[in-house]
Amino acid sequence: MSGVCESFLLISGGWFLAEKDYRPHEVCLEVGLLGFMRQVGQPGLINLAAGVPAAELLPVEGLKRAFRKATQELGRGMWVYQTPEGHGPLRETLAHRLRGRGVKLAGSDVLITTGCTQALHLAIRAVAGPGDVVACESPCYYNTLEQIAGVGARALPLPMSRERGLWLEEAEVLLKRHRPKAMVLCSTLSNPSGASIAPRDRRKWVEMARRLGVTIIEDDIYAELSDGRAPKPLRAYDDGSTVLYVTSYCKSVSPGLRVGCAVPGRWFESMVAMKCQADLHGSLLSEATLDAFLKSPDMEKHGERLKEVCRRKRAKARGVMEACFPEGTEISRSEGGFMLWVELPERRDLKAVSEKALRRGVSFARGEVFSCVAPQRSGMRINCAKVTEEELVRGLEILGECLA
Ligand SMILES: Cc1ncc(COP(=O)(O)O)c(C=O)c1O
Repeated sequence: MSGVCESFLLISGGWFLAEKDYRPHEVCLEVGLLGFMRQVGQPGLINLAAGVPAAELLPVEGLKRAFRKATQELGRGMWVYQTPEGHGPLRETLAHRLRGRGVKLAGSDVLITTGCTQALHLAIRAVAGPGDVVACESPCYYNTLEQIAGVGARALPLPMSRERGLWLEEAEVLLKRHRPKAMVLCSTLSNPSGASIAPRDRRKWVEMARRLGVTIIEDDIYAELSDGRAPKPLRAYDDGSTVLYVTSYCKSVSPGLRVGCAVPGRWFESMVAMKCQADLHGSLLSEATLDAFLKSPDMEKHGERLKEVCRRKRAKARGVMEACFPEGTEISRSEGGFMLWVELPERRDLKAVSEKALRRGVSFARGEVFSCVAPQRSGMRINCAKVTEEELVRGLEILGECLA
């Protein structure tokens, strides 16, 4: 293993299961999900930490039109209880969109959730329990780590390379050795690395998982922010027995709507039962509005504009960091999305850097929150889409000074 390891470029993370005494809720309070969510909307802060788009980028007029259309069409029916599976027309619309990306499914296969967060929460609970191992990317979206720990399972980090993202052959060795129940993969524009599984490898990942009896929980939340067309998800190579698909429209349309979905396959009944126990059903107002918006020409126009702005801001941010960050800093070449993943040439005390930056009104996401083992390199996730271009430049210049 060590020979393989040496020849492999690790972005961060390691080869071992998370320490038994990893306390996600403590990390969460300090710098994780809760900490980030409490920074949202903090006045005066140049927020490069939270993974959300600026309010100015949201399709507010289109959503208002969609809301009006939905209320006209549904009348009193928009203000009542609905079934736990969610708004029927939206389930059909989401199935239609996924069929366009090569997935064979019907509306009845779709479970509407409160954001991707709830879809992930239910999916991990449907598949794993206390004492199980659940593999995840390294680095990995921090709430995925928190959710794995939340069911009493242990995270198995799967290392990623900057050029290729996850490496199938390496993952297979680790999966055979540690026999996880599931692996959570952000197949396109992963958070925070920005890496995507290459289209030519997608079928191989599904076949490998099936052979080893490992369920893939595919988090596809960023796919619609791809610079080109969104690729076929892993679920396109499965029949619902190996891949449990989750996503949301919180990144590509509006986080405030809080609408996501799962295509749970053989876990449908257990997930819908848990969903019903948790909140009966999602908000019909949001679901009917999203449905009307997705069916309108506003969706395509909005998607193109959002992608264009993100592309421009990522390029701007890259230029500033190349000029102001320490020499040897490496920046991800993300082909879409809001974020850039940055690795510093030497290990730094990023807690101190972050405190210094916060005193000067700038926040960023520290790399260690994306890892359940001590990261080998100091990483930073920079969200380019929440602030104006001027703030982005200013914020990154301040970070450069804090790192100097
Ligand atoms: C990879 C990933 N999955 C899920 C989520 C949760 O998204 P939502 O706002 O839809 O709950 C996020 C949010 O940042 C994310 O980055």
